[in-house]
Amino acid sequence: MIKQSPRDTPELVILTGAGVSAESGLGTFRDKGGLWTKYDLEDVATPEGFAADPGKVHEFYNARRKNAAEAAPNAAHKALAELEARLGPRMMLVTQNVDDLHERAGSKSVWHMHGALRRARCAACDHRFDAPLEMRADDPCPSCEAPATRPDIVWFGEMPIFMEEIYAALSHCAMFVAIGTSGTVYPAAGFAAEARAFGAETLEINLEPSETASDFTQGHYGPASEVVPAWTESYLAQLE
Ligand code: APR
Repeated sequence: MIKQSPRDTPELVILTGAGVSAESGLGTFRDKGGLWTKYDLEDVATPEGFAADPGKVHEFYNARRKNAAEAAPNAAHKALAELEARLGPRMMLVTQNVDDLHERAGSKSVWHMHGALRRARCAACDHRFDAPLEMRADDPCPSCEAPATRPDIVWFGEMPIFMEEIYAALSHCAMFVAIGTSGTVYPAAGFAAEARAFGAETLEINLEPSETASDFTQGHYGPASEVVPAWTESYLAQLE
């Protein structure tokens, strides 16, 4: 029996990771040749790294912002946008990714729990603004003019965003689906176990079983651009 979700909460929660953008040419983090094999995450994805060398951190995110701008959404992003067009608020799309490929594929409601490359904020006054393509350590904050602007990205050791809304959805949803994530970074890596504890169906879609594959009741393995459209089609068909 499929669990019934209360009317005002999404019946379907989807979490995406870097694997959904891999076929768009954006690197993942932990695959062969992934970003964390080329950069030390301590240097470019922690508050300490930013304090030590803000210029290096801006260079890292400027390169990622440029890559994302040059990339195009793939069939997986498009299938998820079409699913949202059919389900509306019955579905919640959470992403660990900081690129904007979901939005450029047409998704309207994307919960970026690790922040977004196209957003920036001031470490002095917390003013938030659209990030320029290139950011530099001595850029003045558009609001307080302090040379303290940073990418609006959640670094290791910082609190992910929207956790209250995500846990509320996980406790009520009928199904949780993780797409293209290695299941190595918490709290996202714990979402499947959380949803399952509340009786939800859980499906992992990935190139191969992730570290948390045992938390899922089902697994569909292969490239996201093939497996995701096939799954969204079957999901919509069973709703008919
Ligand atoms: N289709 C589907 N899955 C793929 C594809 C593909 N074409 N290519 C790679 N994958 C899978 C890999 O098998 C791997 O399990 O995507 C996953 C990517 O894992 P990671 O590189 O660890 O990325 P992610 O899980 O999103 O990392 C989580 O870690 O560094 C932090 O904040 C960063 O949001 C990131 C978080």
